[in-house]
Amino acid sequence: MDKLIIEGPSKLSGTVKISRAKNAYLPILAAVLLNDKPVHLKNLPELRDIRTMLTLLQNLGVRIDQRDNVTTLDPSNLSNHMATYELVKTMRASIFVLGPLLARLGKARVSLPGGCAIGTRPIDIHLENLKKMGAEIIIEAGYVEATKRNLQAVHLPLKFPSVGATENLMMAAVFTPGTTVIENAAREPEIEDLANFINAMGGKVEGAGTSKIQITGVNELREVEYEAIGDRIEAATYVMAALMTKSEVKVVGINPIHLEFVIDTLRSMGANIDTDENSIHVKPSELKPAKIETQPYPGFPTDVQAQMMALCCVIPGNSMITEAIFENRFMHVPELTRLGAKIELKGNTAFIEGVEELSAAPVMCTDLRASAALVVAAITAKGRSEISRVYHIDRGYERLDQKLAGLGVRVQRTNE
Ligand code: EPZ
Repeated sequence: MDKLIIEGPSKLSGTVKISRAKNAYLPILAAVLLNDKPVHLKNLPELRDIRTMLTLLQNLGVRIDQRDNVTTLDPSNLSNHMATYELVKTMRASIFVLGPLLARLGKARVSLPGGCAIGTRPIDIHLENLKKMGAEIIIEAGYVEATKRNLQAVHLPLKFPSVGATENLMMAAVFTPGTTVIENAAREPEIEDLANFINAMGGKVEGAGTSKIQITGVNELREVEYEAIGDRIEAATYVMAALMTKSEVKVVGINPIHLEFVIDTLRSMGANIDTDENSIHVKPSELKPAKIETQPYPGFPTDVQAQMMALCCVIPGNSMITEAIFENRFMHVPELTRLGAKIELKGNTAFIEGVEELSAAPVMCTDLRASAALVVAAITAKGRSEISRVYHIDRGYERLDQKLAGLGVRVQRTNE
C-alpha cells in the first residue's frame, strides 16, 4: 500500500489550482442516468470515488469515452437497474443512482450502503420521502428494491437537511408531472450545481441553494456539456496548510462565497485572507484560538472539521471544536496526538491546547478528511512523517503530492 513521506516543517509558496468538486460531480454523474442523450462533462477529477461511480454507470449500461479533458457519457441504452454491493460498499455515494433510475426506468435495485468510518450513515430520509412520492420500497437481502408506481408531485419536508437525500429526491422528481417541493432542503453549493446541471439538460429545478426546492416535471432532456464548480473542501485544506505554516499561498479555481463561513471564521481568528471571484489569497497570520461547531451549509462544514483541528493544534491557547453532523468524526484525534498534539475529547467536542511545535511520527489514515488533517499536520511537524493507507486520500484529493510539491513541500509517495 502506498505511503506519503513528508519532511517538515515546510514553508509553502506559490499558487495551487483547485480541481472540480468531487461532491458536485458524484450526484451529477448519477443524474446522467436521467438522460437518454449524450452528456459531456469537463475536467472530471482523477479520484477513486469518481472512477467508482463511472464503473457503476458502465455496469448500468452507460457507454463512456474520455478524450482530453472531456468525458462523454452515453446513457441511451441502459441495460441494468442494479447497483451491486461490491460497488456500493466502497462508496456510499452510489446510493445517488436510486432516484434517477426510479425516474428513468421506473425501478431500481441498489445495495444498502452500510456504514463507514465516520458513522452509520442511514438512508431513512431518502427512502421515507421516495415512499411519499409514491415509490414502493422493499428492503431485502441488503438491497433496496424501489418500484415506481406513478410518482406523485408532493410536499417533502425533510427531518434533517440531508445533502444526499436532497439530491436523490431532486433527481427522482425530474419527470414527475406537476411540482414536487422539498422543504428543509440542504443548501450546499453542490446542490445548486446539480440543479444547474439538471436545468442545463432541460429539467426545471428552482430554489436550489435555499431551503425550499421546487422541481417541475418535464418530458425529455437534451444533450449537454457541463463543468462542475471548484472543490471547496480541497480549497479549504490548502488554506489550512498555508495558515499552519505561516505561508503565502494563492488558491485558484474556487468561488470564495462557497467557503464564506470558513473564511469569516478564520478572519475572526486573525487570518490575513484576500479573495476575488475565483481565488483565495492567504498571507502569513498570527492566529487566535477557535471555537466552532459544524453545521449544515452555510454553517461551518463538517468536511473541514479535521483540517481545522490540525490548524488549532499549533495556535497558542485553547480551541474548541464540536462535531454536530456525524457521530464518529474524530478518528484523526489519536493520530494527531501521535504528532504531539494536545487534544482532549468530551463527547462530540474536542478541546485543543495549542503546542509550540508538532513532531514527526508514523501515522495512519482512517477516512478521507482525517487523512487530509494528517497531511496538513505532517507538513508542519519537525522531522520525517510517514503517512500510511493513503488510498483514503485518493478518494478526494487529485494529485495531492504533486500539488503539495508544487508549493514547496518536501513530499514523496512510495509504494511499500
Ligand atoms: C454528503 O454526505 C457528502 N458526501 C459528505 O462528504 C458530507 O460530509 C455530508 O454530505 C455533509 O455535508 C457527498 O456529497 C458525496 P448527509 P451525505 O445526508 O449526503 C444523517 C466527504 O468527505 N442522515 O447530509 O451522506 C447522516 O447520518 C464526504 O467528501 C440520516 O440520518 O450527508 C449524517 O449524520 C464525507 N438519514 C447527517 O444526516 C439519512 O437518510 C448528514 O448526512 C441521511 C443522512
